[in-house]
Amino acid sequence: MNFLSTSEFDLGSLIESAMRFKAGDDRAKPLTGKSVALVFFNPSLRTRASMQVGIYELGGNAVVLEPGGTSWTLEHRAGAVMDGDRTEHVAEFVRVLERYWVAIGVRTFAALKNWEEERTDPVLKAFAKYASVPIINLESAMHHPCQAAADMMTIREKLGAGRKRVVLTWAWHPKPLPMAVPNSFALAAAQMGHDLVIAHPPGYELDEELIQTARRHSNVEITNDIDAAFDGAEVVYAKSWGAKQFYGNADRDISERAQFRDKWIVDEEKMSRTDNGIFMHCLPVRRNVIVTDAVIDSHSSVVIDEAENRLHVQKAVLAKIL
Ligand code: CP
Repeated sequence: MNFLSTSEFDLGSLIESAMRFKAGDDRAKPLTGKSVALVFFNPSLRTRASMQVGIYELGGNAVVLEPGGTSWTLEHRAGAVMDGDRTEHVAEFVRVLERYWVAIGVRTFAALKNWEEERTDPVLKAFAKYASVPIINLESAMHHPCQAAADMMTIREKLGAGRKRVVLTWAWHPKPLPMAVPNSFALAAAQMGHDLVIAHPPGYELDEELIQTARRHSNVEITNDIDAAFDGAEVVYAKSWGAKQFYGNADRDISERAQFRDKWIVDEEKMSRTDNGIFMHCLPVRRNVIVTDAVIDSHSSVVIDEAENRLHVQKAVLAKIL
């Protein structure tokens, strides 16, 4: 059983399990004597540290591998003629790893070069194709399910069970970023039955197919009006992402987004129009760019609890799939 996106899981029962781990009511060690590989193509603080600690707390051993850094560069394309700079194919990499490890976590960001290709998550899918052990998505081009599960757990902890008015807002950032976090947050919020409002400037739409899937679960409103979006919000989730239309041309995205810098930031004025809304962000966050100091340092900010909950939900995921 893989964990590639939240849509494959019952998030409610996953969160219940995570809350038992957090409360100390579940001390099971299903990984005793077992090892898990964590493959990072990209940098990480929270994901790497919380996975290592979580695997240890479940009795297991985590080994971090960095293709192109401390391990060989990797090719993922089937049929590739490997006469370039990639030394090893995922086909061998994965089948060797699973002789040592019972699961493989993979982080592989979008390169923001080719939307149609990257939206299919080719690197993550190659791991899943060749593996016979579970693959855990630690953030791919399209999804960050561990983050989204921790986000839903945090909303449940802070505001209780039941439908909430949840606002996912784009924020200005000096360069285009991948859209895995907002995609997974939107999907997971809809799966939990929340009323979801997605606010972004024109041209910064999320993946259409993903939005259609979210709409099968719950109400999804999309607006270009950031002020109206904040009215009555119980949750404000800020994230920046790149425009699909500018994949492969970062400079055009950077010049397009310049007009949104002053308006698309989470500040006290906007938060004052929420319904005592909590402020959320996956971190890392650029202070006074995405969110002002006054908001992230306020009592409404839950970003540190949100990061802690990564540990608990990932233990629940590991306990479930292993
Ligand atoms: N939120 C998150 O995934 O953090 P890292 O990139 O530091 O792992």
